[in-house]
Amino acid sequence: MIHWMIRCTLGAGLLMLAACGDGSSTTAGGWKQADESKLTAAQKLQRDIAVDAQIAMGKQLMKKLNTTLATQGPAETINVCKLEAPDIAQGVSITESLAIGRTSFKLRNPANAPPPWASAYVKQRVEQPTFLTNHDGRFAALLPIRMQAICLNCHGDRDKLAPNVTAALASQYPQDQATGFALDDLRGWFWVEVPAQ
Ligand code: HEC
Repeated sequence: MIHWMIRCTLGAGLLMLAACGDGSSTTAGGWKQADESKLTAAQKLQRDIAVDAQIAMGKQLMKKLNTTLATQGPAETINVCKLEAPDIAQGVSITESLAIGRTSFKLRNPANAPPPWASAYVKQRVEQPTFLTNHDGRFAALLPIRMQAICLNCHGDRDKLAPNVTAALASQYPQDQATGFALDDLRGWFWVEVPAQ
């Protein structure tokens, strides 16, 4: 930051200043990373809404994943991730009036690409929960998802997946990159966008 300021001051000319002022802390579309200890009361409320939504979606997804896996096996459970995850996301979005989804640096479904404000953090593979504010009052959160034992069924080493899982992934996700993860690895993130309150 100081480095940027020195560059800007020395750079003189207004154009140069404008370019420098657009430095590392502001990302796409007017988003700025927030220092969690300096959130306003309204932003803290938005953070709590985002975290609650993530917990709600995570719980519903895990419940569905566990029951389907136990009763029908991993290949059938692929449909939970494919069909139920977007449904659950939509349900949570409507009740909480926000937008929520999952993303990763190694995607199974290209439709899960990160929203523009999140892409730099996804590239950096940030391990910490990250919060952003927008000058228009919106609030965003990127919350890490780590690998658990159950996830290895479909995201573990390719040569350890059940043959019918490998076959189902090959036919439904020809561009799949989301294997080769180990227990506790960072798998991806929930992203949440909360409107101005
Ligand atoms: C039964 C197989 C299966 C299991 C078990 C499973 N997943 Fe997935 N996962 C999938 C499928 C299929 C998709 C693609 C869903 C879609 O089309 O949106 C996916 C997508 C994801 C994504 C979204 C990003 C992307 O790659 O498209 C994340 C994050 C993710 N899974 C994390 C996990 C975690 C964490 C666990 C364990 C708690 C887990 N998954 C367990 C099959 C599985």
